[in-house]
Amino acid sequence: MTATNPTPETPSATATRTERDVGVVIVAAGSGSRVGGSELKQFRWVAGKPMLLHSLQTFMMRSDVVSVVCVLPREYVADPPPWVFQCDTDRLMLSTGGRTRSESVANGLEDLPDEARIVLVHDAARPLVGNATIDRVIDAAREAGAALAALPVTDTLKEVDANGNVVRTIDRSGLWRAQTPQGFRREVIVRAHREAQTARVWATDDAALCERLGIAVRVVRGSERALKITEEQDFERAEALLRVTE
Ligand code: CTP
Ligand code: MG
Repeated sequence: MTATNPTPETPSATATRTERDVGVVIVAAGSGSRVGGSELKQFRWVAGKPMLLHSLQTFMMRSDVVSVVCVLPREYVADPPPWVFQCDTDRLMLSTGGRTRSESVANGLEDLPDEARIVLVHDAARPLVGNATIDRVIDAAREAGAALAALPVTDTLKEVDANGNVVRTIDRSGLWRAQTPQGFRREVIVRAHREAQTARVWATDDAALCERLGIAVRVVRGSERALKITEEQDFERAEALLRVTE
């Protein structure tokens, strides 16, 4: 992973983007076990609408997006919640999730149309990501071949044992928190997933599948708004972050 100087916050340049060659895979096929409850976390309402609908609409608003593949748990593909269609359905495809996130991404990649030369992978669990971050990831993916949004670690890091005692302090310099979207030239992400499947490895993000092949991955500045809703209290945190500019 190579870090660059974070690019300055700029308003979305979407209007000036002429190429329509970005395919988006939104993974929404998890079970949300850490949140729990009877309703899937990606279908629960947050900040005014169902979590997944935020990212569906954000990516569909973009003129450079040719297609959005939404990866759902198997039982919902034939019968998705009706609000899923509150976006440009001409550019929407539904795909079936797998047992792991990596498998869900791989399934989504297969359903992208040929026109998608740049591929973004995004977690439905990060509903509030904005266009400035998406712009940065797309630009870096076009230039470098592989890129991700991330934020530098600011807290001091402790390794802690099972009894709650500190084992050691970890140097945080050079450490970043990986977010999504992550963006790739199509051939790069397809190869990374193919080779991961052959080697039977999986990872919690897609950049890691490139890193293991020695492919350089560029880091661009993410956003606190791209918080991943992982636990129950993150729903409230997300609502509070709505007031934070990207
Ligand atoms: N995801 C997926 N397919 C899986 C597992 C995860 O599409 N087999 C998606 C989730 O829906 C989520 C994103 O990957 O949008 C990030 O995963 P995470 O936040 O871990 O969500 P869950 O796996 O659903 O939650 P948990 O790990 O608590 O069960
Ligand atoms: Mg998970």
